[in-house]
Amino acid sequence: MANIGQGIDRVDGRLKVTGQARYAAEFAVPGVVHAVLVNSTIGAGAITGFDLTAAQAMPGVLAIITPDNAPKLQIKQQPVHAPLLQDRDVHFNGQHIAVVVADTLEQADAAASLIRVRYRRDEPVTSMDAVLGRAYTPKNFRNGARPADSRRGDPDSAFDNATVKVDASYITPIEHHNPMEPHATIARWDGNRLTVWTATQGISSAQQTLASLFGIDQADVHVICPYVGGGFGCKGNTWPPATLAAMAAKVVGKPVKLAVTRAQMFTSNGYRPRTVQKLRFAADEQGHLVSMRHDGFSQMSQPALGEFSEPVGLATEMLYACPNVAVTHRLVATHASLPTYMRAPGLASGNFALESAIDELAVALRQDPLEFRLRNYAEQEPHQNRPFASKALRECYSQGAEAFGWSRRSHEPRSMRDGNVLIGWGMATSTYPTHRMPAAVRVRVGANGTALVQVGTQDLGTGTYTVMSQIAADELGIPVERIQFELGDSAFPHAPVSGGSMTVASVGPAVKAACEAVRAKLQADPGASLPELLARHNMEFVEGTSEAKPGDEEKHYAMHAFGAQFAEVRIDADLGEIRVSRFVGAFDAGRVMNAKTARSQLIGGIVYGLGMALLEETHVDGESGRIVNANIAEYLVPVNADVPDIQTIIVPNDELISNPLGAKGIGELPMVGVAAAVANAVYHATGVRVRKVPIRIEDLLA
Ligand code: MOS
Repeated sequence: MANIGQGIDRVDGRLKVTGQARYAAEFAVPGVVHAVLVNSTIGAGAITGFDLTAAQAMPGVLAIITPDNAPKLQIKQQPVHAPLLQDRDVHFNGQHIAVVVADTLEQADAAASLIRVRYRRDEPVTSMDAVLGRAYTPKNFRNGARPADSRRGDPDSAFDNATVKVDASYITPIEHHNPMEPHATIARWDGNRLTVWTATQGISSAQQTLASLFGIDQADVHVICPYVGGGFGCKGNTWPPATLAAMAAKVVGKPVKLAVTRAQMFTSNGYRPRTVQKLRFAADEQGHLVSMRHDGFSQMSQPALGEFSEPVGLATEMLYACPNVAVTHRLVATHASLPTYMRAPGLASGNFALESAIDELAVALRQDPLEFRLRNYAEQEPHQNRPFASKALRECYSQGAEAFGWSRRSHEPRSMRDGNVLIGWGMATSTYPTHRMPAAVRVRVGANGTALVQVGTQDLGTGTYTVMSQIAADELGIPVERIQFELGDSAFPHAPVSGGSMTVASVGPAVKAACEAVRAKLQADPGASLPELLARHNMEFVEGTSEAKPGDEEKHYAMHAFGAQFAEVRIDADLGEIRVSRFVGAFDAGRVMNAKTARSQLIGGIVYGLGMALLEETHVDGESGRIVNANIAEYLVPVNADVPDIQTIIVPNDELISNPLGAKGIGELPMVGVAAAVANAVYHATGVRVRKVPIRIEDLLA
């Protein structure tokens, strides 16, 4: 009964399409009252006073919480990811500066609109480009796991001595995640115990953060989150709205619901920071890379709010066999909120620069871009000289190229036309590291042939419920329909944040191990089913638990997923209008758990990449620091008409070194390289090299 790999329908699909799946803001908590956030309207400075008289006189108002009367929180550890009404400083436009609580949402909203704030205004730094010279080295790059800079060989002299060179800067903009479900929290205090229904990618970290801020035991914080309407990274940290909801509930002594507005999603929960990346690459005349230097600058908030670095150089270190490589990461402080992880952090932005520069070198060498990449194929991980646990990138290249028809590409730019339409073909490599963290699972199998599996993980809409049910079904020999899989409750055994594409690799092995523990308890002989064995032992149920964690494989192997992205663009020769007309992505994501949810992830990731290539950009007013397109009408994302036929290919790979399930992670991989593939296709169509995204008509008409 092999369920793993089958493209079965989502086990929670019916609940979702019938509206029965309950999201954070939808829980019916008796007596709940409503909170709204008030945000700063200046970019930098301090609050000098509030006029609350009119707001306080409004019907239904229960409390107005400002830095002047907010309960003090126990801020022991930085970052707290944004100010929490603990002082009057203003670090960015849109910072939460007050919370209004009222009986109804409408009353809270109306009262909030009457609050008057006096400020001392400072001049905000709104553009990182203007202050690039003040860049600084991150203190805590990758949470201290490695230094911000790395080097092998002597890239500078290799560059100076080389004949074929690219020396260029690439720019990626601020992007916002905009999941369909905005952040929301319902908080209720029962004495000193806190319950929150909150939209999060990490119930354990929410539990930890809230316990620490309110100075209570972790066991006294109960986090509930059975469904998440998308995260993409913006629900990874526990951002201020969750904390402020709990604070408001404490102040009014009633359960409080706080759902942020779409506009507030632009300043409440991070964003993908703008990057400026300076690349200096060189090759010898045969087309072997001899030097790669990648200096990355990413936008930061004021340092007082914490630290986040966009790790743009990670793929540059490991993707190609090149003896001389240097990578640096720097931060540039501005008056913006704190940036954060966004789908394929580092890799998505970094690979736009890396894979554009690789294309530019291929052009300079007059070599086919795919052939150039194959010539520099890294047979083993070149930075630390370790073998890859597995790497089927060669197969991704060949199967992707075959499906796309790459061999029919003409080399010269502007050489493929269809009447007045310029046609361009571009490609890029994708990669994403395979992560795994410890996870624990509880399984209970009943004599009636059903199994209950519980783990404190999350399902962001990616299919966790479904694939974990498949894993349990296979291990227990019980049909998928008889597996009841529960997640999203901090009372369940501990699992890591759903980020870094690591949920299957982390939680899957724990599910497998807990099921094995159940079987071991009954000393199952292979012939008998678990219900039969339970009956034989006269038992009503049997339970098994597991705590699964990575071994020392990371010491010996480099573990990465790979992919090859191929784009066709059609560009109106007079108007510059760009259409992506075909896209093929071929991926080595290890062993795939569910062919249908995997394909959905791959297509979704490519669409996300198309957004980066052509549409997505957050615009900041230079004077006030205010985000001017804080809505999904003017923050452009791909709609159906922007998305062509997308062909996805899963290259088989059964390697089991990375983890016992062989899953390499599939959520982030498919968006890496898409923007470069499109930019490279735009160059091939037009002969214009655009070194920034999103690529706009005006970039082609210059
Ligand atoms: Mo993801 S950006 O690691 O949630």
